[in-house]
Amino acid sequence: MNWKWGRIAAIMGAFAILVALRATEKTAVTPTGAAVKPAATQAKTAKKSVAAKTAVKAHEEEVRTLEGYVEQEKFFHDFLKKNHPLFTDYEKNGRLVGKYQISDREEEFVEFGGGKAFAEQNNRHAAITYRLGMESILDLPNKFVGAKKCGECHPVQYEKWSRSRHAMVVRFPDEMVEIPGKDLNAPLYPGSGSKSAVLPQGITADSVYAIIGTPRTKYGFLDPWLVRGTYHIEGGTLKDRTGTLVAGGNQFSRSWAESITPETAKKIAAYVPGFPTTLEAFGDQSSPVWGTNSYGAKNRKSMLFQPASSYCEVCHSFKFDFKTQNELMAALGNAEELRKHTINKGISCEE
Ligand code: HEC
Ligand code: HEC
Repeated sequence: MNWKWGRIAAIMGAFAILVALRATEKTAVTPTGAAVKPAATQAKTAKKSVAAKTAVKAHEEEVRTLEGYVEQEKFFHDFLKKNHPLFTDYEKNGRLVGKYQISDREEEFVEFGGGKAFAEQNNRHAAITYRLGMESILDLPNKFVGAKKCGECHPVQYEKWSRSRHAMVVRFPDEMVEIPGKDLNAPLYPGSGSKSAVLPQGITADSVYAIIGTPRTKYGFLDPWLVRGTYHIEGGTLKDRTGTLVAGGNQFSRSWAESITPETAKKIAAYVPGFPTTLEAFGDQSSPVWGTNSYGAKNRKSMLFQPASSYCEVCHSFKFDFKTQNELMAALGNAEELRKHTINKGISCEE
């Protein structure tokens, strides 16, 4: 299950051997030379007991394989298929525009990036594209202490880290300090004429778990089921499960919202033929709002249904203090509850 403890056990083991060797070295050079166990015997004993302990650990905690990592996600996908409003409300009631493609760990970690060809040539599977998370949100209970806890004894390091971009790779709506009034649905650059906001149409701050991004380039969101926001809602809200769920139109894009107004685009198009000057000209990347694009989706056509466990959490990490997978499932759909149980987010030493 957990590499961490295996690794710690291995380090401790190596340490014990080292200490044993050092001790024997010292006693061997004592001037009296009396009653000293031969160095070789001592080291051997230490090695033996370490080996025995490591064997017990290995037996207790299975080594994670890529197949195991994929398998672990099954309960989560099963739960989402039964409970995510995309299926239970929008698709069921014919209020869905665009097709969805389920994106899971099998696809992201085993098949993606030529994984199939690799497996054929090497007779084994490998995650070629990304690292596997040290501990996933699905590893419950996890071993995480949480950066805040480390900060109790390391306040200077914690302060420095908490202002770093590593700490800001996942933020809650009330942490969006750069947004005037923290209003995530208000146009962010109204001066340019763009109506694009951090969150797309129909997605309110109380119906997201977290925001990913800073005003550098773009914003994205994870919904209260920890699924990547590759959609928006027209004529209603996700919170009330009203309106129509539409593929795409999901991502605030800073340069389009702030600087590349339709007028500027026309000037650019004079030099760069084909440069989009109307929303229609964006094609699959388009949306109903200038400054908002479709990402992980094709406007009104298709979208990924991709839980954070299948991708985002690997780099935009967060951790819960739930003891069991059942506790996690009981909280899914309730963003506030998920936030209350979040003990770590961002890329910290423990990651
Ligand atoms: C109860 C207080 C306490 C907590 C909590 C704590 N540490 Fe420490 N940590 C220390 C002390 C004391 C030292 C110095 C040990 C020494 O110098 O021998 C230390 C040393 C370290 C060092 C080595 C620093 C160096 O310069 O060699 C790192 C890294 C570290 N801690 C990381 C963490 C992380 C990560 C966490 C949270 C998971 C954490 N600590 C939680 C007290 C704490
Ligand atoms: C393989 C690691 C990795 C994965 C997986 C990943 N990201 Fe990122 N993401 C990054 C890095 C690194 C950056 C910062 C890039 C930079 O500084 O230019 C970033 C930046 C971003 C930004 C822009 C941040 C800004 O400040 O402008 C957004 C939004 C974002 N990611 C969303 C997501 C979402 C949503 C997912 C899951 C669908 C995801 N990312 C998955 C590594 C990753």
